[in-house]
Amino acid sequence: MCGIVGYVGRQAAAPVLLEGLARLEYRGYDSAGVGVLAPSGVRVVKTAGRVRDLAALLPKRMAGRVGIAHTRWATHGAATDANAHPHSDESGRVLVVHNGILDNAAALRRRLVDEGVALTSETDSEVLAHLIARSSAETLEGAVLEALAAVEGTYGIAVLHADYPDRLVVARNGSPLILGIGEHEMHVASDLAALVRYTTQVVHLDDGELASVTADAFTTFGPDRSPTHKQPVTVDLDAADFDLGDHEHFMRKEILEQPVAAERVIRGRLDDRFATARLGGLEIDARQTREIDRVVILGCGSAHYVGQLGAGLIEELGRIPASAEPASEFRYRNPVIEARTLYVAVSQSGETADTLMAVKEVKRKGGRVIGLVNVVGSSIARECDGGVYLHAGPEVAVASTKALTNMALGFALLALHLGRVRDLSATDGARLLAGLRRLPDQIATVLEDEQAIAAVAKQLAEAESLFFVGRVRGYPVAREGAQKFKEISYRHAEAYQTSELKHGPLALISPSVPTVAVVPDDELLGRNVGALQEIAARGGPLVALTHPGADLGDVPVERIDVPKNEPELDPILLTIPAQLLAYHAALTLGHDIDKPRNLAKSVTVE
Ligand code: F6R
Repeated sequence: MCGIVGYVGRQAAAPVLLEGLARLEYRGYDSAGVGVLAPSGVRVVKTAGRVRDLAALLPKRMAGRVGIAHTRWATHGAATDANAHPHSDESGRVLVVHNGILDNAAALRRRLVDEGVALTSETDSEVLAHLIARSSAETLEGAVLEALAAVEGTYGIAVLHADYPDRLVVARNGSPLILGIGEHEMHVASDLAALVRYTTQVVHLDDGELASVTADAFTTFGPDRSPTHKQPVTVDLDAADFDLGDHEHFMRKEILEQPVAAERVIRGRLDDRFATARLGGLEIDARQTREIDRVVILGCGSAHYVGQLGAGLIEELGRIPASAEPASEFRYRNPVIEARTLYVAVSQSGETADTLMAVKEVKRKGGRVIGLVNVVGSSIARECDGGVYLHAGPEVAVASTKALTNMALGFALLALHLGRVRDLSATDGARLLAGLRRLPDQIATVLEDEQAIAAVAKQLAEAESLFFVGRVRGYPVAREGAQKFKEISYRHAEAYQTSELKHGPLALISPSVPTVAVVPDDELLGRNVGALQEIAARGGPLVALTHPGADLGDVPVERIDVPKNEPELDPILLTIPAQLLAYHAALTLGHDIDKPRNLAKSVTVE
């Protein structure tokens, strides 16, 4: 959600910044801007629209070896040229790019106006440029510290000042910032995606930390200016992981990567000797595990739906009461934090502000929270007391796919581990290990059916409104299916428990409202088929995500068969065709699949 890039070195800054912006565009894409310190002074080019619109506006040669850039997802103020970052002070000598939200911006804007400052945007961020310019501190670092002392809220910022042409000053509080250490050059970014092309040596800033960055050195320090002596770490990422390759969309690339990604999350974690899962990062011993008497899973959006699937797995295999709740609601209801409850934060990006705040709420009240997180070193991963990395690899499409599959697998591993410390038999443990081993190939089998699924998606794309229904294990699959569909096709897709249809929503069923039903071949098959009959009787078109050989009676239904695994693991496979339905519906409708309207990857504001 918004992307920051900064450069100071020996190359021309503008092309490096533009390249970084293109890599960060998935974080926000309603406006973009670049500011560099040229020999003639500070130059800024910014515009509403995409990075490609910005690129078209940039002069062919833009001198200057230090600069900052930003791609925006609007919070305060519409997506206009004026609201795009960088923002500057009245003299145009100070430039700031900012991610996050300043809660006291309205008061600060009023104060600046009273002092005679002419504000040029509607943003909260602009105040920072004016506050820095008006500081009487003797160094840029001091001026930034002074400005930050006046603001409340969250920020990742990068600051350029014409009076200090050799450096950038950056700061972080609740919004990620990373330094990339190069050879006689330094990069700054809010996301590794913008750095890995140039370096694998990085420094993650912590909340409250600042850095002063020149071409050859960096210093990190705290709010009291005392040095924090950060050392670079090596990141294990390849620039190619962020490339589209031959694919038309990141979403399809990431869907197709799932067999390999799934293999990665289970690799080295299946323990045949004790018929369990080995999770080194959990940091909870067997005695502590036995003492857990409840599990609460916290995540947002699709991560919450997978959390619901995870809660089901933990109850079923671990026989521990488990529930999932949207992290975005959690801290606002003053939750009771229990000593014997295990809290699990689940997040692809590890930067979702709502989930991070929920983690902090648990910790503040003395609870134990572990993370199921994809991005190594991310804020949530670092805040948790241990956890399970998901190893899905970088996910660029806004609509999450492979990371969610690996989340579900992460929960299966966790549930198996909890179960085997408690009452799950070795026979069941071995059965699930075998199921987990089969899963990557079975995902590949579903993907081979893409063309048939695409044909169904084309029909669904015609409907203005549709239902996704599932029961018990199938309900989170339905919720995620509806989420993916609405997110990128902009069709109204609503998820219901199959059993709830007759309590109200059946009134909406008609020949123009199709239903996608999750119908595993399990103990609830008969009941599910009964519901399909009720829908068919009202003329509702039906698609069933089901298993080969599942007897759906004489109901007129378009079947999408996926390979059968173990009943507990089937929901993971049943989700895969729902991803393809959403993708191909959006493709049919001609939407911008990787950058759906109004959304952005990684919601770093509350
Ligand atoms: C949907 C989607 C979102 C995210 C949610 C949480 O496709 O991607 O609903 O699941 O914003 O994001 P993370 O997992 O990064 O915390």
